[in-house]
Amino acid sequence: MDILGLIKRDHDEVKALFKEFEGLGPNAHVTRAKLAKKIMDSLVKHDEAEEQTLYDLLKERTEETDERVKLFEAYTEHEMASALIKSLHETDGESEEFLGKFSALQEAVEHHIKDEEGYVHKFAREVLEKDELEQLGPEFESAKKQIAVPN
Ligand SMILES: [Fe+2]
Ligand SMILES: [Fe+2]
Repeated sequence: MDILGLIKRDHDEVKALFKEFEGLGPNAHVTRAKLAKKIMDSLVKHDEAEEQTLYDLLKERTEETDERVKLFEAYTEHEMASALIKSLHETDGESEEFLGKFSALQEAVEHHIKDEEGYVHKFAREVLEKDELEQLGPEFESAKKQIAVPN
């Protein structure tokens, strides 16, 4: 699978996990905490690896103003998600505040995924060769493994 396929696979997985989180009953404390951590950790790894292997390369290769603006918008959305995740780690997982912030994270991530699969992947296909997209696949997977997440 090329990098865009692998990214899409992560997106589908995280969207399904968010839905699972939404469907948990009021007494599912342990499951909720574990699932929230799983979602946040996978987002941290995904976003960072995506920047290292795809965004940074696209930024080097793209001279078009519109494309560069869209790319910086995507980086900024990662930055905002990362800040929200940091804040969630400092919030009591059983509180209403946590649930509110987590729901805001879900909305932001769903929006970001939609844009990314739309315009970022579109110009990745324009700017990069098929071979490059293939080669970036394993790089993306190994970059994810290198990224540390909080305990
Ligand atoms: Fe992504
Ligand atoms: Fe992203």
